[in-house]
Amino acid sequence: MTEQSERTRQIERVAVIGAGYMGGGIAQVLALAGLHVTIADAEPSLTQRHLDRLCREAEDFEARGLFDPGSAERVRANLHPADSLSQAVAEADLVEEAVLEQPEVKGPVLASIEAAARPDAIIGSNTSTIPIGDLSTNLTRPARFLGVHFSNPAPFIPGVELIAHAGTDESVVASVEALVARTGKLAARVNDKAGFVLNRLQYVLLKEAMNLVEEGVATAEDVDTVVRTTFGYRLPFFGPFAIADMAGLDVYQAGFRTLEEHYGERLAAPAVLTELVEGGQYGVKQGGGFVIPAGDQAALIGYRDTAYARLGQLLRELGPAPLGALSVDPRPVPSTHVATERDTP
Ligand SMILES: NC(=O)c1ccc[n+]([C@@H]2O[C@H](COP(=O)([O-])OP(=O)(O)OC[C@H]3O[C@@H](n4cnc5c(N)ncnc54)[C@H](O)[C@@H]3O)[C@@H](O)[C@H]2O)c1
Repeated sequence: MTEQSERTRQIERVAVIGAGYMGGGIAQVLALAGLHVTIADAEPSLTQRHLDRLCREAEDFEARGLFDPGSAERVRANLHPADSLSQAVAEADLVEEAVLEQPEVKGPVLASIEAAARPDAIIGSNTSTIPIGDLSTNLTRPARFLGVHFSNPAPFIPGVELIAHAGTDESVVASVEALVARTGKLAARVNDKAGFVLNRLQYVLLKEAMNLVEEGVATAEDVDTVVRTTFGYRLPFFGPFAIADMAGLDVYQAGFRTLEEHYGERLAAPAVLTELVEGGQYGVKQGGGFVIPAGDQAALIGYRDTAYARLGQLLRELGPAPLGALSVDPRPVPSTHVATERDTP
């Protein structure tokens, strides 16, 4: 047995508990990767309804060229309904919990999963925000528990956050990491703080966007336009650290100075930035930055320019998103909203 295989366990059978929006998408992803996937929702009729929906969706995705040929058949062959939670998890190497984002719902479900699963089964939660350590108190063997946070819509969004709590066994994280790689998705390890990385950043962006609308700086429509056509345009290719390294850390430090003058400590330059700049690290142009070293970046610039130009071509080809005739009076922020896209609980 190699060192690697001692540290990881091969996952072949998965149970997904809660087959709604996320659980269903996760089940599709795993079935497409060739795993044996059993789903269970709150009752058998719901499970069957979700299974039918997932198979129909897969057919539709394949017909539209969004899934490879043969995918619908693969989903149909690898997805199995169970009549109960305990039946679903009995043989599973991994159980993924994807029920409602409420600790009082997740707690008993996790306890039931543990009671019915094999003692060596790994248990994951798709929680968006709840600390994994908090959820782990529902289990008697929390070493096998971690966050496995897929994003919406799971079949198409490539990133998965893996969140170990203080007591998670390293082999458990490594095993799920290998599984995620097998699905073709990209895992990132994240420490256990509420909201993790995805939603902590996403919520801050949304909150500040709402502040801008509340203050009358721009309408919701114009905020969205600015986000997706300026800095958001870079985000499929570069994260905030790479962007800052390319733009210049000294430039960001100066920008934070202005923002601090106007908005106070909340937008002051973080110490980690000030220390780099004071140590002569300005990013790509001098000394290197957070994630990009200094030096000739011709290849990087070439990639960047190609990426943005191609993204432009794709957007022209797709045309504008059909948001409909929704018109929102931006001041004050309306107390009711229309949800068209769900990427958070
Ligand atoms: N919707 C998103 O954009 C999104 C993105 C990432 C993560 N998440 C997280 O994924 C989880 C699920 O969210 P969702 O959007 O799929 O919700 P959802 O409401 O679409 O699905 C939840 C499902 O759980 C089922 N359920 C409820 N109690 C159950 C029980 N006791 N046993 C079995 N099934 C039960 C419900 O019937 C429902 O089908 C949440 O933790 C959420 O925060 C959601």
